[in-house]
Amino acid sequence: MIDPDISLRRDFIKNTLAAGVAIAVLPTDNISSAETQPDAAGLIQGRKVRVAVIGCGNVSGSYFPTLAASPHVELVACCDIVPERAEKAAKKHKVPAFFPNIDALLAGPEFDLLVNLTDIQQHHQVNHKALSASRHVWSEKPLGITHAQARELVELAATRKVQLLGSPTVVASPQFAFMARTIREGKLGKVAAAHASYGHLGPSWSSFFYDKDGGTLFDLGVYSISTLTGLLGPAKAVVAMTGIVTPTREIQGKGRIQVAAEDNAMVILDHGDGVLSHIQSGFNYFSAREHEDTESTHHTLSVVGTKGSMHLAGYDWGPHGVDLATAESGGRLQRFAAEPGDYQWQYGAAKMAEFLATGVRPRFTVAHAAHVAEIIAGAHQSQATGMRIALTSTFDQVVLD
Ligand SMILES: NC(=O)c1ccc[n+]([C@@H]2O[C@H](COP(=O)([O-])OP(=O)(O)OC[C@H]3O[C@@H](n4cnc5c(N)ncnc54)[C@H](O)[C@@H]3O)[C@@H](O)[C@H]2O)c1
Repeated sequence: MIDPDISLRRDFIKNTLAAGVAIAVLPTDNISSAETQPDAAGLIQGRKVRVAVIGCGNVSGSYFPTLAASPHVELVACCDIVPERAEKAAKKHKVPAFFPNIDALLAGPEFDLLVNLTDIQQHHQVNHKALSASRHVWSEKPLGITHAQARELVELAATRKVQLLGSPTVVASPQFAFMARTIREGKLGKVAAAHASYGHLGPSWSSFFYDKDGGTLFDLGVYSISTLTGLLGPAKAVVAMTGIVTPTREIQGKGRIQVAAEDNAMVILDHGDGVLSHIQSGFNYFSAREHEDTESTHHTLSVVGTKGSMHLAGYDWGPHGVDLATAESGGRLQRFAAEPGDYQWQYGAAKMAEFLATGVRPRFTVAHAAHVAEIIAGAHQSQATGMRIALTSTFDQVVLD
C-alpha cells in the first residue's frame, strides 16, 4: 500500500529539523524511523562534518575514498586495534590523526561522526561508546548481534540527541526504486512471493566472519533481507535453517580456524496477508569473481505476483537493471532501470554526513536496520529451537524520491 502522507511527512521532518524543533522520541517497535531520530541538535551547519573512521581493514579501502570525495566531510582521525593499520590508512588517505583504540580516539581531536567498520562482534560496544560520548554513528552491518542490542542503540542515540544509521544502503539504488514503484503501482498484480540469493566462497582475510556471532546472514544475507523487507514490508515472523558446510577454514596470517557460525542459511519470512519471501546465503557458493563480483549480471532476486514478475540483474548492492514481465506487456521480459545513478554500496557514511550537513535524509533508516537485526537474530533462534519466531519490530515504508 502506498502511504500518501509519506512525502509530506518527510518534508515536515526536514523542515522541523531545519527549524531546530525537537521531535518526540517513542519506542522503536511501533514508531517510524524518522521519529526515532532525535532533533536538530544533531545537524551541523556552516562547516563540514568532522569524521573519524574506526576499523581500517578491508572495507575501509572502499569507504575512505568515498568519504574523502564528499564535499560535506572532513576526515579528522582514524583508529584500529592493529595500530599499523591505522597509521597506514592515515598516511594513504591523508588523515591527520590516528589512534589504537576507541577510548584514545574519543579523547583525541573533536569529531562529529564515527564510521564503524570493525568486526561484526565489535559493532555494538563500539557504537555504544561513541553514542554515549554524543557522537553520531554510521555502523557497518549489523548494528548489534541481537535485537535488544540494536534497540538499545536506537534509544541511546535518541537520548543523546545524535543520529544513528547503518548499512546496507541497498534501498537507495535506482533499481530498488524501480522495483518498489512497480509493486506500488500494482503492475505485478497481487504480490505473492519473492526469493533472493547471495553467496560466495567466503572471506579469507579475517576469522570473525566464522567466529561465534559472525556468519553468512550478518555478512551477506543482510543485503537480501534489507531489500526484500524494503519491497514487501516488515516481516511478522521468520523460520530458518542454517548449517556449517566447511567446518575449518584457512585465514590469512592466522592459519586454520574452526568455523563456529553458520556458513549456509535458508530463511523464510512471513510479510503478512499471505505474502512470503525466501532468502538463501552462504560462504560455499561458487561465483566467478567471488567477493569482488561487481560486474555480475545474473538474477539474484525475484518478485512474483498475479500479473507479473520482476528479476534484479546483479547483486542488490551492485545492481545493473531490472527485468520485468507483465501480463499487460505480453509476458516478455524487458530490461528497465539500467542506469546506475549515483548509487554506491559504500556511500552510506558519506550520505549520512550529507544528511547531517543538509537535513536531507537518505532512504535507509535505523528502524529498518534494527528490524533486519531482529530478523537475523530470529533466524538464529529458529535454527536453535526448530520454532517459527514472531517478530515485533517494524519500520515505515521506504520513501522514494
Ligand atoms: N570487506 C568487504 O568488502 C565488506 C563489504 C561490506 C561490508 N563489510 C563489513 O565491514 C565490516 C568490516 O569488514 P572487513 O572486511 O573490513 O574486516 P577486516 O577484518 O578487514 O577489518 C576490520 C578491522 O577492524 C579492526 N578492529 C576490530 N575491532 C576493533 C576495535 N574494537 N577497535 C578498533 N578497530 C577494531 C580490525 O583490526 C580490522 O583492521 C564487517 O561488518 C563486514 O561485514 C565488509
